[in-house]
Amino acid sequence: MTDIKELLLSRIRDVPDYPEPGVVFKDITPLLADPAAFTALTGALAELSLRHGATKIVGLEARGFILGAPVAVRTGLGFIPVRKAGKLPGATLSQSYALEYGTAEIEVHAEDLSEGDRVMIIDDVLATGGTAEASAQLIRRAGARVAGAAVLMELGFLNGRGRVEAALDGAPLEALIQI
Ligand code: PRP
Ligand code: HPA
Repeated sequence: MTDIKELLLSRIRDVPDYPEPGVVFKDITPLLADPAAFTALTGALAELSLRHGATKIVGLEARGFILGAPVAVRTGLGFIPVRKAGKLPGATLSQSYALEYGTAEIEVHAEDLSEGDRVMIIDDVLATGGTAEASAQLIRRAGARVAGAAVLMELGFLNGRGRVEAALDGAPLEALIQI
């Protein structure tokens, strides 16, 4: 394993039985609190975004905002928030997706994306893939192209990669760490 992966992994904390019994939650707050690790993480995500030709950065509420905003600053690209439904004040596009129980909905300001944009999706975790899949669909419905998606960690045992790759339509899905 490379040094950066070891550094990132060493700053992710396992929290047993959160948010419910039997789940081991991967907590990134120790990584965010470590300036060397946080800087290395946002640098790696910025490098991937530029390598894949992004012209805009989309961050997914809420932890994707924490990572996506510094990536936008480091790349010199604009930051577009994809928010949970009801939080954006302007005209939005909405996308629903299935959760284990029920559905969720995310939104983007329609005027923030347009034809000619190549969008990099940034988030902390790829779990079942529902959020990233819906984000890619939203970006395309806004008329933009998806440059790729990049996450800090992929929870491989939840098998989200396939559905996200299908939604990315050939664009790359990058995960710095596999769990
Ligand atoms: C988490 C995580 C991803 C998403 C991944 O967000 O930050 O956005 O779940 O799960 P999926 O691949 O199964 O869709 P959450 O909705 O818990 O929100 P938060 O960032 O506000 O904590
Ligand atoms: N950590 C953080 N976010 C998550 C996790 C986790 O273990 N599982 C699903 N979303």
